[in-house]
Amino acid sequence: MTIIKNICCIGAGYVGGPTMAIIAQKCPDIKVTVVDINEKRIAAWNDEDVENIPIYEPGLSEIVKEARGRNLFFSTDVDAAIDKADMIFISVNTPTKTYGIGKGMAADLKFIELCARQIARVAKNDKIVVEKSTLPVRTAEALKNILDNTGNGVNFQILSNPEFLAEGTAVQDLLNPDRVLIGGGIDTEKGKSAVDALVDVYAQWIPKAQILTTNLWSSELSKLTANAFLAQRISSINAMSEICEKTGADVDEVAKAVGMDSRIGPKFLKSSVGFGGSCFQKDILNLVYISKSFGLNEVADYWEQVIIMNDHQKRRFAEKIVKTLYNTVSGKKIAFLGWAFKKDTNDTRESAAIHVADYLLNEHAEIVVYDPKVSKERIYADLEALGSHSSEEIRDRVKVVSTAVEACKDAHAVAILTEWDEFKDLDWKAVYDDMLKPAFLFDGRRLLDKTELKKVGFEVFVIGN
Ligand SMILES: NC(=O)c1ccc[n+]([C@@H]2O[C@H](COP(=O)([O-])OP(=O)(O)OC[C@H]3O[C@@H](n4cnc5c(N)ncnc54)[C@H](O)[C@@H]3O)[C@@H](O)[C@H]2O)c1
Repeated sequence: MTIIKNICCIGAGYVGGPTMAIIAQKCPDIKVTVVDINEKRIAAWNDEDVENIPIYEPGLSEIVKEARGRNLFFSTDVDAAIDKADMIFISVNTPTKTYGIGKGMAADLKFIELCARQIARVAKNDKIVVEKSTLPVRTAEALKNILDNTGNGVNFQILSNPEFLAEGTAVQDLLNPDRVLIGGGIDTEKGKSAVDALVDVYAQWIPKAQILTTNLWSSELSKLTANAFLAQRISSINAMSEICEKTGADVDEVAKAVGMDSRIGPKFLKSSVGFGGSCFQKDILNLVYISKSFGLNEVADYWEQVIIMNDHQKRRFAEKIVKTLYNTVSGKKIAFLGWAFKKDTNDTRESAAIHVADYLLNEHAEIVVYDPKVSKERIYADLEALGSHSSEEIRDRVKVVSTAVEACKDAHAVAILTEWDEFKDLDWKAVYDDMLKPAFLFDGRRLLDKTELKKVGFEVFVIGN
């Protein structure tokens, strides 16, 4: 069996960085090199001060500090890292296509294909290539085709090893995963040996019973399925939140009662302004696209509804703000507490905050944002990427400040968009005193104690009551 001594990971993002840091920490005999074409990102991973690494995850900087320079390296020299590696993880982004066939739905695999062509060009000895990115089912076939047809005659084994970490808890998820999934060509000797090699890497810290091996297609499809199921639970409880608001039921009480049924379980039943993040939407759209391309229209419609519900929830929250503020927010100051798509991450991709802000900008609101981990430039870039407002208008009407209290001063309303713990500990009485009256508070994350806030004097709107 191949013993892995040298790993290369292409893509130093939210998955590649943390995943490889843990492999390096747990497998000191393996040299792990994470490469990326983004020079700034690699420079940040190499920053002398580990607090400046480009991805914020609780506990990650300590692990990087321990392993970096020992057996964990970050580099822009992709060719050299491929050349030396026995095993290459592809962990590049696979966003939704924004052009051509499948626009707005299919996964854009151009970054994956570029990696495959680069590996084929550089590799001079046998390599195991591991799909770590989330990919449409049967992508391994395309990868194999490119590698075999453009390579130097060396043997490539393709494995699928989707990542199930959640941002914000990535380190714990990687140290202690529910399962690790490895798909491979288990019907051939070489395929089986490649699977065993990767199993051995993970077995250095994960019990073998939790390392599942399957065929390639099951593994690829399982990742899309897991994300679709998780997102579906959020859209399901969010659908109920709207019924709660009409009927006087309380969505947390409903979720608790429903979640205590052991067939359902309590997780992912928290109603909110809607899910964000780089994965759920893109992976469901990808599933919808795959279903449509097989002519499975009912399957496609079924999953698409999860996205429709999520978009509805974001819009509904923004509309509620406008309606409550006497049908106009023009010139009014709305404080946004939180911009990241969830707490404990600096990732803002598909964050509900972006869409709510865009809606309010259409209504000529003034927005003041505070997020403990997201930079001003990121916030502006997120709004600019939507393309509905000019850069000048965004910079004129959206201000970014460095404390929650400052954001709320003289505001007509406060909206909680991210469930950062520090918002629970705010001096809400002081915030109230500084706000224009009536002081409206829209809790998009069901984070705060509504009764206490009402006692302070706030007019409170909470999703799902
Ligand atoms: N973010 C998550 O929570 C999460 C969880 C599970 C799976 N995934 C999947 O993992 C994959 C990566 O996600 P991410 O969040 O880490 O993305 P990311 O955008 O944070 O990182 C991807 C990195 O790949 C680099 N890259 C792209 N093409 C390259 C090339 N040809 N050579 C070298 N570097 C290249 C980019 O510069 C970027 O830094 C996606 O398929 C995603 O769906 C993400």
